[in-house]
Amino acid sequence: MTTADLVLRNVTLPTGRRADIVIAGGIVRHVGAPVRADETIDCAGYTCLPGAVDMHVHMRGGVQVEKEDWHTGTVSAIAGGVTVVVDQPNTVPPITTPELLRARVREAEGEAVCGFAVNAGVFPGADLSGMRDAGAMAFGETFAAPSSYGEGLDPETLKEMLTRIHALGGLATVHAEEVAGEAPATLADHDRARSGAGEARAVQAAAALAPDGMRLHFCHLSTAASIRAARGTVEATPHHLFLSHEMFAGDDTRARVNPPLRDEATRRGLWSCWDEIDVVASDHAPHTVPEKGLPFESAPSGIPGVETMVPLLMAAVRRRRITLASVIEKTSWRPAAVLGIPRAGFLPGDRADYALYPDEVTRIDASSLHAKCGWSPFEGLDAVFPDEVVVRGTRAYVCGDYREAHPAWYPGRGYLSSKRE
Ligand code: DOR
Ligand code: ZN
Repeated sequence: MTTADLVLRNVTLPTGRRADIVIAGGIVRHVGAPVRADETIDCAGYTCLPGAVDMHVHMRGGVQVEKEDWHTGTVSAIAGGVTVVVDQPNTVPPITTPELLRARVREAEGEAVCGFAVNAGVFPGADLSGMRDAGAMAFGETFAAPSSYGEGLDPETLKEMLTRIHALGGLATVHAEEVAGEAPATLADHDRARSGAGEARAVQAAAALAPDGMRLHFCHLSTAASIRAARGTVEATPHHLFLSHEMFAGDDTRARVNPPLRDEATRRGLWSCWDEIDVVASDHAPHTVPEKGLPFESAPSGIPGVETMVPLLMAAVRRRRITLASVIEKTSWRPAAVLGIPRAGFLPGDRADYALYPDEVTRIDASSLHAKCGWSPFEGLDAVFPDEVVVRGTRAYVCGDYREAHPAWYPGRGYLSSKRE
């Protein structure tokens, strides 16, 4: 009998069967009969989920270190059951060359406590093939409209970029919006200036520009109409699912985000498309309290959310609003498949990333979250936070306590093939 690094005992598998999961070298070796192990965790009484892959986070760092850094951002991820994060390239400066991409990976390797990947920036003049070879996971978010730290691409440039990404075999991720009018003074203005109807038109336009058969993914779609207009895979965020602008005072900058929070009816419409949503990702985009303290017109868009994403969904599972299987699909298995990351799970060969959720539903309290910014627009909402998180077969988080970190970098598909060419 082999010796394991870790055994998860009494795990209730998605099939309902109870089994022990035997882990060595960061992957599942065996499911079933117990073996000797250096360490064991008794999972009886917990819901054991595969670690979430949050394919849309802005970990900041560099000159934006006051907002977040790779350490605080990934500690926040782990505390919310996320074991792999995919960083967006609208950093300062943006990721546009292989050198900048490699430097970003080194920054993460030095600080991250969970798995990570880094996307390539899709900006005019960016060295797309160089970044693919350097290990970019995906391309974008590609701004089809301007947003924080990203200029919008005109349709001709967008088409050219999508064509080049397709030729590289890459996955293009698109931020689609239409922007009209003056600087908004309230959340309702912001919703009108970047309307749901405009988002759906922008999605349709971007989909029409993309070459047939390309790997295409739409980020953070906020309405049912946008989801229907999309091609490829679609992502929705916890803030568009759980928050409407009607829940906030009109000038509350904490709820300012692109695409904007919608009204209650639109939010409910998004839930009606739950089965069509491929991926839930947080768009974790923290800004500091002083930045959000600016007048509405000049306050930056973006909200933190990597730590609260799965906990909010788990509270919805406990209320029987959605199934546990759908949460596993949309937070772990689908994003891993879309990106080409080995999946975490319950079969031999699977990546050994897990989070254990208790039965109790609690409420979100920003003062106990781990992101650097110290605030959350989800304050007071129901949530179920994990008690324990395993990253690559190592206990990374035990009841609020961090252990040894084993960050793994997940390069994109093009990285290995470029080495073979
Ligand atoms: O609200 C947003 N903030 N939307 C984005 O697309 C970018 C993000 C940021 O980086 O702050
Ligand atoms: Zn975006």
